[in-house]
Amino acid sequence: NAGGSLYDRIGPDALSALVTRFYSYVAQEPLLTPIFPDDLTLTAEKQLAFLTGFLGGPPLYHERYGHPRLRARHLPFEITPARARAWLACMNAALRDTPPIGAEQISVDDARELYAALSRVAVHMVNAEDHPA
Ligand code: HEM
Repeated sequence: NAGGSLYDRIGPDALSALVTRFYSYVAQEPLLTPIFPDDLTLTAEKQLAFLTGFLGGPPLYHERYGHPRLRARHLPFEITPARARAWLACMNAALRDTPPIGAEQISVDDARELYAALSRVAVHMVNAEDHPA
């Protein structure tokens, strides 16, 4: 389990559990619910496929849905800096959860590396200004 890529180290089970937890937080975040569908099943499937390839595993998203063109795909949604922070906070909360099953654990170092990589991508999804208070 000490393989080269983050995907090799985290493994498919822990990654899948992480994505599930992440969307359970998204579904409870008032800044994010207005732009996400009520049913997050397909969203979660796509995210798991994307992260699998992004972290060095098989390119499932590309195979199923084509080139991700992530920034373009996010343009229909108003993504403010506050929403990007809320998205990352949901990811951070999901990473901090301690799952009961050992196989679904993500090490602290791997969690840090994953969060840092996602933070860099999240910045590029921002396509709108924050609303004045
Ligand atoms: C799809 C929001 C960041 C990967 C979506 C959707 C929304 C959204 C509203 C559409 C959901 C749907 O219709 O099913 C956001 C917000 C972000 C963010 C507010 C804050 C910065 C990211 C990041 C990544 C990412 C950092 C990748 C690391 C994806 C993928 C999809 C998606 C793969 C599915 C695209 C598709 O429809 O095929 N996101 N996102 N998002 N997002 Fe994000």
